[in-house]
Amino acid sequence: MDDRLTEIDEDQGGELPAVVGQTSGGGRKVFVRTFGCQMNVYDSERMTEALAGEGYAATGAIEEADLVILNTCHIREKAAEKVYSDLGRLRVLKQERAAAGSDTVVAVVGCVAQAEGAEIVRRAPVVDLVIGPQSYHRLPELIVRTRAESRSLVETEFPEEEKFAHLPHRAPARAVTAFLTVQEGCDKFCTFCVVPYTRGMEYSRAVADIEREARALVESGVREVTLLGQNVNGYHGAGPGGRTYSLADLVHRLARIDGLERLRYTTSHPRDMSDDLIAAHADEPKLMPYLHLPFQAGSDRILAAMNRKHTAREYVDLARRIRSARPDLALSTDVIVGFPGESEDEFAETLAVFAEVGFAAAFSFKYSPRPGTPAEKLADQVPEDVKTERLARLQEVIDRHQRTFSASCVGRTLPVLFERLGRHEGQLIGRSPFLQGVHAEAPPELIGKIVPVEISSFGPNSLAGVIRPE
Ligand code: SAH
Ligand code: SF4
Ligand code: F3S
Repeated sequence: MDDRLTEIDEDQGGELPAVVGQTSGGGRKVFVRTFGCQMNVYDSERMTEALAGEGYAATGAIEEADLVILNTCHIREKAAEKVYSDLGRLRVLKQERAAAGSDTVVAVVGCVAQAEGAEIVRRAPVVDLVIGPQSYHRLPELIVRTRAESRSLVETEFPEEEKFAHLPHRAPARAVTAFLTVQEGCDKFCTFCVVPYTRGMEYSRAVADIEREARALVESGVREVTLLGQNVNGYHGAGPGGRTYSLADLVHRLARIDGLERLRYTTSHPRDMSDDLIAAHADEPKLMPYLHLPFQAGSDRILAAMNRKHTAREYVDLARRIRSARPDLALSTDVIVGFPGESEDEFAETLAVFAEVGFAAAFSFKYSPRPGTPAEKLADQVPEDVKTERLARLQEVIDRHQRTFSASCVGRTLPVLFERLGRHEGQLIGRSPFLQGVHAEAPPELIGKIVPVEISSFGPNSLAGVIRPE
């Protein structure tokens, strides 16, 4: 699975398989499909863990699932619409299972659930439960209720209580890397974005809770933790001794955990890139030299219309300051093309920022008007064909930058954290400090270990190399 899951919603197509037989008689089974960002991946894991405590075993075979959860994303229209095509197929599946004597609970959770609420049940009566991101701790109870009452339930309030306090502690991880949500929600209100409406206001978890969770992950074999938040660098959580911790404080504290080898965080807003966090990139060896820092557009007029609250020059200067703290740091970014009113010259300013900063990776999107956001109501929407053409030009630049960065790694020896078996016999896959996938011939005992690998070649999505003796 790619680390930047905003892309996953673009490429997760696929048909739901047909019913192949009777469901197993034993404990219940849950199938979870996750769209959208890393936070949804994290939430899906936490829900699966909570359901395991209720006797639900996870399955990858949807046709044998007694409970199907679609964890949805509302960020762009295409992502949101995928839910409805899945629900169409689920209607058939549910009927087939009912004919075979098994009932199926269908739950829609995540950001589409929050944004559309009861409308989902109206459009797709197959849905039994609609649950917004702040109410996942209520999932087991709501499943029991929908079964008992034989009616659909919608839970999209922003409850007073904190969901993490009501979800069970982390189950042993099976992986070497893990996500850990430290901050959720957003008050920035960029005019194109639904997140402030779907995830609510900014909220930071307490340091002690995060630390407990990180320690549990490390005890179960995790070596790299990515701290998550919609505005993760705006983190300001209650710390020991009543002090408010910044993200830099949190990073330094977590770095003290023995066995936790690597820390990352995502996603950051340029406005919240504080001096102490920049300094942490110089001072904290466990903090990886990779930073995802969206700039969205290169034109100051467009940035102002987006309510980003920074100029292109400020972004470029910030990138320079971060690199002077940590010269080998790889930057990645998000960019939107075709925001309402974007002229050809203004688009060229986006390309100019690329030329000036140089990104190791970037994610680019055609502007998608989203219901309820201010930009949706702007007059001069850019025609689809213009957006498509600009996106293609931008993607060429992005690919070129990525190849240049990958090529610059060839011949270097990079510490690689091996994560899992590769596709070919005898091969493992891991990550470089710069989040690139790296393949090498290596024995399976090296999974979970950081090993020096001399990079010998690169492909479109990964590097290949040879293990070097230390
Ligand atoms: N919190 C993060 C990103 C959240 S969404 C941040 O502030 O950067 C991930 C990316 O999706 C955004 O960076 C943006 O580039 C893109 N995006 C958000 N809303 C969009 C829309 N309406 N149309 C196209 N892209 C959008
Ligand atoms: Fe959306 Fe802007 Fe908040 Fe990021 S900072 S989540 S783009 S409103
Ligand atoms: Fe999508 Fe919600 Fe994440 S809209 S990108 S799943 S915060």
